[in-house]
Amino acid sequence: MSRKPLMAGNWKMNNNIAEAVVLAQEISNQYEKDWPDKVDVVLCPPFVDIKPVRTVLEFDKTNYFVGAQDVFWEEKGAYTGEISVPMLKDCGCTFCIVGHSERRGLFGETNEEVNKKIKALLAGGIQPIVCVGESLSVRDEGTTDEFVCAQVRAAFAGLSAQEVKEAVVAYEPIWAIGTGRTATPEQAEEVCAAIRATLAEMFGEDTAEGMRILYGGSMNVGNVAGLIEQPNIDGGLVGGASLNAASFTALIEACM
Ligand code: 13P
Repeated sequence: MSRKPLMAGNWKMNNNIAEAVVLAQEISNQYEKDWPDKVDVVLCPPFVDIKPVRTVLEFDKTNYFVGAQDVFWEEKGAYTGEISVPMLKDCGCTFCIVGHSERRGLFGETNEEVNKKIKALLAGGIQPIVCVGESLSVRDEGTTDEFVCAQVRAAFAGLSAQEVKEAVVAYEPIWAIGTGRTATPEQAEEVCAAIRATLAEMFGEDTAEGMRILYGGSMNVGNVAGLIEQPNIDGGLVGGASLNAASFTALIEACM
């Protein structure tokens, strides 16, 4: 089954509203009308920038998606500081990153919480981009596939094939994030194939074949081609290189 590539930019905690609008505008300026037929593009700015970025893209009729970097699973109520799925929809989000290693590592996010967020997003019609990935010590122990596939099982526990088919998985080895040290195409492909095999065990071959699996971790113009030509890698979740319009556009073009 052929899967449409997806290139997602995770801006992390960068860009105030003015900066976000400028970057969205620069990315929008490089947009070609036939690109959305060939690749899905998602910009994931900080919460406060989502609406302004969405407005830029709508004004320019740039057919890219906007996503968030996190969400809370309850719809509303006394949850100080949190943002719900309906709030993200209201801002025009169609995607949301979940379980990024920075959230797991710095903010103690657990597999159970990731699972609740994924359920809330899928129930609310937002496509989760579910991040999994091993630390350097797990890789050195030789247990990467087991570790990552256990994260996948926990993330999608209790969901049906019908529910998960809109979800995206992003394999992001922690040792490759922001370090300039990319996984080789072979290393990334091996884990992404193991992820797809796990999805097939859980939800059947057809569902697993239709789901997109991205690679993330120091993806850049120099290494993108080798990564996305792998059979089980369907695009990228990009940090640093998504903060520059020229480099992010080059990554989009590499998916054509
Ligand atoms: P870098 O591309 O900066 O390594 O970040 C990857 C990432 O964490 C995307 O979510």
